[in-house]
Formats: sequence, structure tokens, C-alpha cells
Amino acid sequence: MSEPVDDRDRLRHLLTLEGLGSARIQALLDRAAALRAQFRAGASALPLLQGRTVVNLFFEPSTRTRTSFELAARRLGALVVNFDIASSSTSKGETLEDTLATLEAMDADAFVVRHKENGTPARLATHARRAAILNAGDGNHAHPTQGLLDLLTIRDRKRHVEGLKVTICGDIKHSRVARSDIHGLGALGAADIRLCGPAALLPAPDQFPHCGLYDDFDAAIAGADVVIMLRLQKERMESLPDLDETTYFARYGLSSARLARAQRDALVMHPGPMNRGVEIASDVADGAQSAILDQVANGVFVRMAALAELLRD
Ligand code: NCD
Repeated sequence: MSEPVDDRDRLRHLLTLEGLGSARIQALLDRAAALRAQFRAGASALPLLQGRTVVNLFFEPSTRTRTSFELAARRLGALVVNFDIASSSTSKGETLEDTLATLEAMDADAFVVRHKENGTPARLATHARRAAILNAGDGNHAHPTQGLLDLLTIRDRKRHVEGLKVTICGDIKHSRVARSDIHGLGALGAADIRLCGPAALLPAPDQFPHCGLYDDFDAAIAGADVVIMLRLQKERMESLPDLDETTYFARYGLSSARLARAQRDALVMHPGPMNRGVEIASDVADGAQSAILDQVANGVFVRMAALAELLRD
């Protein structure tokens, strides 16, 4: 069953933020904030997922997202299996669908899937008999929990997303984070979403008709409430942009001088992994306006909320 919702209109899989709608997104953020409050008040584990099994299926390298999902599941009392792709039967030619069916037969309740090809989590969702599929990043398509944690971080610091000016700068073309942020920010009513990068790394103009496209970062950052920086995702590029790192930083890097063009209290964000001195200066990454480690912390609570929602009884 591939529908993201069940016959009672409850979320069944989390594949993308596109079309999810503001009520559902806000409910997930509220749940994440409530879980965070419980943990910060001293809860060390909540047994919401006691007896459930979550399988991490990561076909691409990952540090924070995999660890974050693992911590989220464990904090809710679930058993976590980190599927070892390199030594698995997929490397012996088994299809992913058969791997899924095999693990489902062992009573896995949820699969957290990261894959370099767009649409792999959605494809697995059409084959899942009972289990929930959570997309942990597919190609340049979607990274819904990253979008949610970015929204929670913005909502915490700015109280709401509605009406904000948000600049996203870097390799937009290859970024699933940018796509999920654009969908989430749009759903929650951001007033102005500006996408900035070298022309070759911008999406086609008709892809996000409601976003502004800029190749001049000084213009794109002027007056912004939130600035989200992205890495050059070289592993997804057919050819590397014709810019060395110093020139790239001069044109598209976030320095403190450039940040001064944004609102005085503008929030600085980055999904990681970060390349200091390439897309962001170290003093900005570690500065008072940076919410980068808040994003990481919020990631665990957002994933707890998503797992709890999809694996409810
Ligand atoms: C991102 C990803 O993998 O899409 N990282 C993350 O999940 N926090 C961004 C990236 O790889 O640049």
C-alpha cells in the first residue's frame, strides 16, 4: 500500500513534505516539541514504541541522520536494527523489495530508508504489507525529517514561519534538503523563499514558480530572516562547477560581513555536513546567530514524533 495515509486519514508513511499540508506538519512539530519538553524535564525514555522494531536501511553514507533516527527509536523503547548493506544479500543480487519482504516477515514495524535514487522509499512503500516507510533522503528528491527539524528550529526562534523571508544558498539543484524545506516553508506560509547559487546549481525556473532565483548572494540575503546554507554535493554532480573554493566562498559563502545584510537577528542554519571556509565561515557557523546545533538536537525529537505517529497502535 503506497498511500501516505490510511483509511482513517492517519499518516502511514513519511515520504515527502509535498502535499502534507500545514495542519499535519504543525501537529508533528507540536508533538516533537512536547517530547522535547518531557525529555528536558528529565524523562530518559518513553515506552511509546516498546516491543516495536525499527530497521535502518541506509544505502548512502550518513552520520547525523542515521544516528538521529537510531536515538529517536531507542528513546521510545524500540528495538533498532542497523542493516549492514555491505555484508547483506542485496550485494548478492537480491532485490530491495525481497529484502523488505524478508525483514517484514521478521516483524519489522518501520524502515528508515536512505538511497541515492529518487523514489526508492516510495517504491518500497508500495510493497510494504504492514510496515511504515520513513524517507531519510532519496537522491535530490526529498528529506522530510530534515525539513521538519528545520521548521521546528525556525518556529522555536522566530515563533512562527508565516511571513518570513528565507534565503537558501548553495547547491540547490542537487539538494533534497532544499526541496523539503521549500515544501515545508511554503505549507507554513513563508512570505518569500529565495534560492541562490551559481546558475548551474539552481533548479529550472518552472520547478518552484513561487520562489525567487538569484545568482547574486548579496541581493538574495538582503533583509532575510533565515539563511540556510548548503554544501556543494559533488557526489551528485556530473561536472564540477568552474569555481575554486576561494572564489566560491567569495561569491556564495556566508561571511559575517555578508550576514550583516540580513535582518539583525537573522537565523543561520546548515543541515550538515558543513564545509567550513567553503560555504560558511567558521566564525558564523559558531556565532551567536547560528542554530546549527539546535537543528541537530531537534532532529532527534522530530524523528521521535514521526516514528510515534506512524507506529501508533
Ligand atoms: C544532507 C543530506 O544527506 O541530504 N545531510 C543531512 O541529512 N543532514 C545534506 C548533504 O548531504 O549535504
